[in-house]
Amino acid sequence: MAKLIVAGAAGRMGRMLTSLIVQQPSHSLAGAVEAKGVKGVGADAGEVAGVGPIGVPIGDDYAAIAAPDTVTLDFTSVTASMEHLAIAAAKGAAIVIGSTGFTPEMEARARELASKTRTLIAPNMSIGINVLITLVEKAAALLSGFDAEVLEIHHRTKVDAPSGTALALGKAVATARGLDFQKSATFGREGITGVRPTDQIGIMALRGGDAVGDHTVIFCGQGERLELIHRTQSREALASGAIRAAAWLEHQPNGLYNIRNVLGI
Ligand SMILES: NC(=O)c1ccc[n+]([C@@H]2O[C@H](COP(=O)([O-])OP(=O)(O)OC[C@H]3O[C@@H](n4cnc5c(N)ncnc54)[C@H](O)[C@@H]3O)[C@@H](O)[C@H]2O)c1
Repeated sequence: MAKLIVAGAAGRMGRMLTSLIVQQPSHSLAGAVEAKGVKGVGADAGEVAGVGPIGVPIGDDYAAIAAPDTVTLDFTSVTASMEHLAIAAAKGAAIVIGSTGFTPEMEARARELASKTRTLIAPNMSIGINVLITLVEKAAALLSGFDAEVLEIHHRTKVDAPSGTALALGKAVATARGLDFQKSATFGREGITGVRPTDQIGIMALRGGDAVGDHTVIFCGQGERLELIHRTQSREALASGAIRAAAWLEHQPNGLYNIRNVLGI
């Protein structure tokens, strides 16, 4: 039975994770943590998640509960996740990180720390999106002359843009076509932009309302367009993907993994 810890237990994803974990007899919630001083610290994690008391109080000291037999589900912020990863690496605890918005420097540091423990980092935990990434790689290679554009929409309270998933989709196009993503990516367009360069990968971010997260990859040819669309209808898809990843990660050797490793694709 995986002993799970939810970091960011009072947040949107944290509450969804707690409510799903308590419904699954194969998993147990071993701990829950929040940022110091946040409303919810000291409260019962089940009460905060809206599923009634479960006897697991939300603490604010991750180092006190991280242990080799625990797997942490971390949906907090990139800064908090980097701190948690350093603690997990020191303690030999497994950690699944869903926070998005890592800088290239943070990614490099995360790779270094990940080699010391079992780590899975994924900007999107849904199974559908990870299958989409595989399909996009295939389509980008097959449709080599087609212009690739990535479009995403998320809720108005999302703090980073474009989404980590949109970046992953853009990188999938770049990888399939042997392009340098940093050089090929263009984020939004305005003014006299000139003719679109062939190798450009356009990435557009829309924000509004409570949209959980939709991603569209459009391959535009002459006289035809192929559009691949994924719509997240509920955070449940993301939370259940993360729990599945945690159960898988528990038994892996130290190293950095992603959801596609879990799916074997
Ligand atoms: N990978 C995915 O599939 C996926 C899905 C949804 C959200 N996200 C990302 O996950 C993160 C959280 O999303 P959310 O919508 O739940 O946000 P949220 O703001 O609702 O929740 C984040 C929670 O983390 C807590 N937190 C901050 N610092 C902390 C610390 N040091 N220790 C413990 N808790 C801390 C906050 O107090 C807050 O309650 C964001 O980066 C978001 O983009 C990823």
